[in-house]
Amino acid sequence: MSKGTLIVGGSQAGLQVAVSLRQLGDTSPIVLVGEEEHPPYQRPPLSKEFLAGEAELDSLAFRTPDFYAESGIDLVCGERVCEVSRSPSGPPGSGVATTTSGRELPFDRLALTVGAGARRLPVPGADLGGICYLRAYNDAADLRTRLATATNVVVVGGGFIGLEVASAARALGRSVTVVEAAERLMARSVGPVVSEFYRQAHARRGVDVRLSSAVSGFRGERGRVTGVELSDGTSLPADLVLIGVGVLPRTELPEQLGLVCDQGIVVDAHARTSDPSIVAAGDCTVQPHPITGEGRVRIESVQNAVAQAKVAAATLLGRLGNVISVPWFWSYQGDLRLQIAGLATGHDSQVVRGDPDDEQFSVLYYRDDRLLAIDAVNRPADYMAVRKALGQRATIPPDLAGDPALPLKSLVNAAGTVNGIGEPLVRDKRFWSNGHTIAT
Ligand code: NAI
Repeated sequence: MSKGTLIVGGSQAGLQVAVSLRQLGDTSPIVLVGEEEHPPYQRPPLSKEFLAGEAELDSLAFRTPDFYAESGIDLVCGERVCEVSRSPSGPPGSGVATTTSGRELPFDRLALTVGAGARRLPVPGADLGGICYLRAYNDAADLRTRLATATNVVVVGGGFIGLEVASAARALGRSVTVVEAAERLMARSVGPVVSEFYRQAHARRGVDVRLSSAVSGFRGERGRVTGVELSDGTSLPADLVLIGVGVLPRTELPEQLGLVCDQGIVVDAHARTSDPSIVAAGDCTVQPHPITGEGRVRIESVQNAVAQAKVAAATLLGRLGNVISVPWFWSYQGDLRLQIAGLATGHDSQVVRGDPDDEQFSVLYYRDDRLLAIDAVNRPADYMAVRKALGQRATIPPDLAGDPALPLKSLVNAAGTVNGIGEPLVRDKRFWSNGHTIAT
């Protein structure tokens, strides 16, 4: 009898693998195991609506408890898989996983959707009370409780998490300082024009933004944080600190399994790990660039978790398809709605559309006049047009894109090439079959 699929990680990617397996007609057992005690839930609202009191755990759950029973998905919550042993005599990829409570979960197929954890800041005083991270529901619930009574909030890290929390804290009337190590905000995700816009926009809303600033330690009294020390000697008062300095993919289990890891589990365009019988999806992976196929990227986003999980499920069932998957991201910081499509890495020119002073503008990124990506602030139509163009392998002429009177969607030139390259999306032919195309 088939032991079915074990999915390790009760994340968005993990649930999507399970759902996709069922949608693709798989009737064998599916076990989805997650270390959090909550059934899979949406993480993005944790730093937005949840902190504002506009969402609760129930409303964040992806599915009702009935769904799991009706779909034959055995959901195991509150158990962490600590060991996986392969079965030398069973089918390729089969084995037994053991959880920390000693429970054994046998499987014929394995999917790893173990995600990433918040990167810790290793400075003196970092374990004082009132110093928080935000990754899981329990973190957000704790932060929300503390925000209700905080006076001086210091946010370390001016990335998505830090700025979303800063916005939520300002909306509650707290005094907020953002301490960012880099020269600009969200440097990993957006271009300099957008970073500078956000610095000014947050300052207008009363956030004290400190760039190129390093935290040297935390002060405290009776075990609770009272201040943040910067390496230039500045001392900031703080009764609540939120640290959002990036994530580290969880690689303990894949490393134990001997899978190749390099800043994440290395997978191919079909979500196969270095052992092709094991798939992985979501924030824990690094994969070939989804548009050019050149180099490897880690894409920490809902879009990628879902798209890669669909591919992983198809791969587990032996259906390898060509995948067109345009990365997209969003970060809503109060009334500032940032939407990103594509990956701007390697761009050599940009076009600014609209006026940042109006708090409504977009920046389109190009390489050799080929459209790569957009950062759109409060301009959802621009974002949608670029996302669609990239998905159709089309481009938008840079000389026309800057005219805000011309709707971008009217400029999309579906030339039938990959943004002018004229080659398949992923060029490593080893990873391609002539299967179906999954558009995500
Ligand atoms: P991030 O990598 O986006 O930003 C981290 C920021 O911290 C960077 O600006 C970096 O320069 C800064 N930093 C690093 N070390 C520092 C230090 N020692 N002192 C001060 N600043 C330092 O990561 P973030 O914001 O923690 O987000 C974590 C994850 O959550 C990411 O995967 C992100 O994509 C995801 N996320 C996604 C959201 C979305 O899609 N809207 C919303 C919130 C989080």
